[in-house]
Amino acid sequence: GGGCGACTVMVSRYNPREKTISHFSANACLLPVCQLHLAAVTTTEGIGSTETRIHPVQERIAKANGSQCGFCTPGMVMSLYALLRNQPQPSLEDIVEALGGNLCRCTGYRPIVDGCKTFCGVRMSVMRHLESLLVDNAGVPELFHEGDLLPQDPTQELIFPPELMLMAESQRPLTQTFCGERITWVSPVTLRELVELKAKHPKAPLVLGNTGVGLEMKFKGILHPVIISPTRVPELYEVNKTPDGVWVGAACSLTSLKTLVEKLVRELHEDQVETFSALLQQLRSLGGQQIRNVASLGGNIASAAPNSDLNPVLAAGRCILSVISKGGRREIAVNEDFFVGFGKTALKQDEIILSVFIPVSKRGEFVRAFRQAPRKANALATVTSGMRVRFAQGTDAVEDLAIFYGGVGPCTVGATKTCREVIGRRWNEETLNEAYRLLLDEISLPPSAPGGKVEFRRSLTLSFLFKFNLQMLQKLNEMVVKLPSCTNGSEPSWRWQVRPDCSDKRRLTFGTCRSQEVSQGQRGDDLVGRPVMHRSALSQATGEAVYCDDIAGSQGELFLALVTSTRAHAKLIKIDDGEALKLPGVVDAVTAKDIPGKKFRTFTGIDEELLAENEVTCVGQMVGAVVADTRQHAKQGAAAVKVVYEDLPDRVLTIEEAIEKKSFFKPQREIERGNVTEGFRKADQMLEGEIRIGGQEHFYMETQSMLVVPSGEEKELKVSHRVHLSHIESIAETLGIPSNRVSCHVKRMGGAFGGKVTKTSILASITALAAWKTGQAVRCVLERGDDMLITGARHPVLANYKVGFMNDGRIIAADIHVFAKIFTLDVSLVIEKILLHIDNAYSVPNLRGRATACKTNLPSNTAFRGFGVPQSMLVVESVINDVRAWRESVVSPPLQIREKNMYKGPSITHYKLQFDPENLLRCWDECLQKADYHSRRTTIAQFNQSNRFKKRGIAVIPIKYGIAFAAALVHIYKDGSVLVSHGGAEMGQGIHTKMQQVVASRELRIPVSLIHISETSTNVVPNTCPSAASFGTDANGMAVKMACETLLQRLEPVIREDPKGTWQTAFFKKIGLSATGYYRGPDTYMDWKKQEGQPYAYFTYGTCCSEVEVDCLTGDYQTLRTDIVMDIGRSINPSIDIGQIEGAFMQGLGLYTMEERKFSPSGMLYPRGPAQYKIPAVCDMPLKFNVYLLAGSSNLHAIYSSKGIGEPVLFLGSSVFFAIKDAVAAARKDVGLGGPFKLDSPACPEETCLACASCFVQMVPVPKPGSFQPWAIDV
Ligand SMILES: Cc1cc2nc3c(=O)[nH]c(=O)nc-3n(C[C@H](O)[C@H](O)[C@H](O)COP(=O)(O)OP(=O)(O)OC[C@H]3O[C@@H](n4cnc5c(N)ncnc54)[C@H](O)[C@@H]3O)c2cc1C
Ligand code: FES
Repeated sequence: GGGCGACTVMVSRYNPREKTISHFSANACLLPVCQLHLAAVTTTEGIGSTETRIHPVQERIAKANGSQCGFCTPGMVMSLYALLRNQPQPSLEDIVEALGGNLCRCTGYRPIVDGCKTFCGVRMSVMRHLESLLVDNAGVPELFHEGDLLPQDPTQELIFPPELMLMAESQRPLTQTFCGERITWVSPVTLRELVELKAKHPKAPLVLGNTGVGLEMKFKGILHPVIISPTRVPELYEVNKTPDGVWVGAACSLTSLKTLVEKLVRELHEDQVETFSALLQQLRSLGGQQIRNVASLGGNIASAAPNSDLNPVLAAGRCILSVISKGGRREIAVNEDFFVGFGKTALKQDEIILSVFIPVSKRGEFVRAFRQAPRKANALATVTSGMRVRFAQGTDAVEDLAIFYGGVGPCTVGATKTCREVIGRRWNEETLNEAYRLLLDEISLPPSAPGGKVEFRRSLTLSFLFKFNLQMLQKLNEMVVKLPSCTNGSEPSWRWQVRPDCSDKRRLTFGTCRSQEVSQGQRGDDLVGRPVMHRSALSQATGEAVYCDDIAGSQGELFLALVTSTRAHAKLIKIDDGEALKLPGVVDAVTAKDIPGKKFRTFTGIDEELLAENEVTCVGQMVGAVVADTRQHAKQGAAAVKVVYEDLPDRVLTIEEAIEKKSFFKPQREIERGNVTEGFRKADQMLEGEIRIGGQEHFYMETQSMLVVPSGEEKELKVSHRVHLSHIESIAETLGIPSNRVSCHVKRMGGAFGGKVTKTSILASITALAAWKTGQAVRCVLERGDDMLITGARHPVLANYKVGFMNDGRIIAADIHVFAKIFTLDVSLVIEKILLHIDNAYSVPNLRGRATACKTNLPSNTAFRGFGVPQSMLVVESVINDVRAWRESVVSPPLQIREKNMYKGPSITHYKLQFDPENLLRCWDECLQKADYHSRRTTIAQFNQSNRFKKRGIAVIPIKYGIAFAAALVHIYKDGSVLVSHGGAEMGQGIHTKMQQVVASRELRIPVSLIHISETSTNVVPNTCPSAASFGTDANGMAVKMACETLLQRLEPVIREDPKGTWQTAFFKKIGLSATGYYRGPDTYMDWKKQEGQPYAYFTYGTCCSEVEVDCLTGDYQTLRTDIVMDIGRSINPSIDIGQIEGAFMQGLGLYTMEERKFSPSGMLYPRGPAQYKIPAVCDMPLKFNVYLLAGSSNLHAIYSSKGIGEPVLFLGSSVFFAIKDAVAAARKDVGLGGPFKLDSPACPEETCLACASCFVQMVPVPKPGSFQPWAIDV
């Protein structure tokens, strides 16, 4: 629905009147095909290919390592390409703006921006900072040489198709009518015709950008039998300037509106441009570039969305609409009477907005816009506002005042009563204090208001007025209006409140990626340890890379859509597919009754039903599936299946309810070192606390996708696109057939992050069941909403803790109890990982950890990067943070509590594993030094002293992460080319690239170009392990190495005999040129009875320092700088590993500070797509991001001394969480609230703002818990 940008294309149009061609980026998923008449659409496939010539944009993103799983890459390429077609030398800000509507879940954006930056004429930071790798002067490739890049040459770009130009010039425009199965699309060419059509079909929507109507039809199932497209009516695009303002055609896109107001702001007198400037501010952050390029001004107004960003400003700015209908024209003011309800305006059904009048402002009049959203860009506002005041000339007397809000009611609302009271009064503290009070009363929200966040939203209405006040005071000061001086004679309070600081300068600076050096003696063609581009990056950038849904359909192929439960806990009375089977295209339906074999999947001893048979246990549980000839028909079929339920009592939704009802899984795990009770007795101080950590959606860009093809006379099943032993087993068990009849293949996945293992087995089994029953190939590609609903997410956690410590900060005892929400799968593993990492980097002599898995009626959670560890470590760090906060509230200067409690010297963990923490401490010291931590702490303290509502915070977080958990086949052909198959699945982490480095450059000593890795396939390499737990490279690398060693051993006599011989020689000597390798990693174990073991082969260490700036009035924050030092042994491919580090850090930043999963009180997941669920975007990148790999580290336990890296770094995102907490602590101190305080994760703007406890937050009354039903519950 336009939120992720992966489908971005460029649309080009020719204007025959002006003889100009325009280019703009757009989301293909929202582009109606009927609207593309005479338009040229360019996709990444159209601008370059690896077969002919790649385009410089494709090349630079690929070479900068900006493509990992690659699913987002074509969209990134096209956003940048469209920008360059309009602006061949863009600025860095232009690039960030152009990429604002494109999400990437893998890279962390820095490498993408680095690749794009080369077009601004800025030297690549990647190259510059990887220079340290180039030590042996043996012509070893750096990531790329700037001089080798393809030049950008605008004259070489695709030309607009001349035949379209000719058609546009020669054809007399005629009304177009397209008739589909259910919809008629009419596109008139004259205004008269348009007016008549609207009179004839008053209910038909006018579709311009389709960003409102498209979403309704797609996600709400609304059907419009007639659609009118007025895009060819010229009057709707006219712009007329008058001395009083400007009339803007209602069909003008928001991008053209932005260009227009930018020009007006530049050209008109500063007194006149107040409304234009406020609109400009809103337009900069409204949606992504692709949305603004198509969405229209009239559409935004007529949609009357409650949180429209433009409507409050248009209303405050006294804008007027010119509307037309068969009854004539009239003008109507945009004000509180115009917006009458959710999506409703005072427009009559047959009225069309022709244009919008935006008046110029007068001297003494000021207009401002404010917004707060879950993400800085491409996110609908939580609350948005437009405010205008006019002062009597030369005074601070208020002549007129208008305040409008969005996001605090069903539509844009005006604070008319408040404004009425203020008009005529002087703009001073007394008036404003009265205004806050009135506003709180007037703009009220019931405690159960839709959208939740009630206290936050109410406090924002006040904070925005306060911000407006500060700006007006400054303006009045500039106008030399005498301002009241402070009663105590000191500097007036407004002055220090608005003192400019560097905080608003959100400038991206260059990051540093300093890496290891390869050894002096390493051969030039040995690529191990050197940065090598991801091997598929170019094909991903050119769109040639094949994902599951790119596999061509076969004849008779069917599509599958799932039927899911709408109840959290109920008996299944009946599943009636009668109506569904009558619908066009529907072929069949499957339920649990059709399963010939095992009806459930067992994982770690617990069963999960494939399809619910008698009872449903959560909303979103799969109860059946419909297969049809097209995706659309399958969806319609699934929607028509009637399921009859009988609700069951004792529904458990939250962890608290599970604790109360003792709804737990067994076994509960416990581990204790030392004597905790005794430790508490000896402690000088004790603290108790609690923290809740929300779950996290995987949000892999490619949703769960699979294709099952029955083939051969013996009914074999070929499954694309997952490859994991459990999938084969699951399919075979479901169908009651041997595993050797099922083969799984995968070329690549568009991200997985742990989410494509367990639930995928079930989905693959259901798809296979449908294929088995119908005898046809069946494709299942989940829509984003279904994927989020069905597949589960990271486990949410609630933890209670008690900590005992000495006055000098030494922690001597801790008791931590973690409750993880789970439903069925993955139970014991996650709670074990939680307990094994409950120490993180700290040696607590008396430590008790308990972990309990709660059984609730919410979708079962599943593995996600780190699998419990990121939750566990956040609890530990919160404990440490509380001790630090307590100590700082009584003793200053602050002390490094973390350093004091860290493991030092030969150490032993709470499960009695001996290890040496030397590299942990080295990472810590190096990070403090590289980040210049101590001097920045002082600067931050000074900043906080002189800023009341902006605070900065800094945090340094260490990590000690345990790694533990493959087979390979290598063929050499007679021409010397090599085919490698291994058990690791490529999902963006670069495993195929690393395997090439292992085989080619080190083991077989041949050029990389001779090596090919086709796909991961179970009929080539059976019994694979999941590519998980950061162990993929370790295991598969070792297996590939072993296979190569076998081959070399066989070849050695031939080489000795004839060193110049060819592979042919070996072939004729009857040497077997195929070999296998098999490696399952070192033996690991954990004895929970004895509470000891060797569960990990080694530890990956690191430290991260982040600094943030928080706006205490809105909870908004910006990461100013992040420095990471990681010990990953000797990296096989530093550029890929740095990419993994940055990507994992950003995922962690999302987990701890942005990504919210909200459930309704009946257990239904609310966020079901990018519109509601916000993952970090390019605007969330730290403004300065430095990554360093610890030098001089090695690791005896993994291939070539490398270390697993995929998972550990995710936790380092918590440094941003603790930096926010640090800033919040400074804000609380100003209002007299010292000492430890609770901040749950994610620390979104809501939590942060409320924790800052500003006077506005404190003004908002808090309803008594239990006295109302909240819109959303914390699970
Ligand atoms: C991913 C995404 C992010 C977004 N982010 C934001 C945001 O941050 N802030 C924000 O304010 N909005 C946001 N929006 C909403 C977007 O701005 C509006 O949907 C858009 O402006 C509507 O314009 P449109 O041309 O696409 O309307 P369409 O979908 O084409 O039409 C919408 C409605 O308007 C009516 N209409 C259109 N033109 C006229 C006219 N001239 N006269 C009478 N009725 C008319 C139609 O009949 C229809 O009912 C976002 C939308 C998406 C999809
Ligand atoms: S590379 Fe961007 S989502 Fe995977």
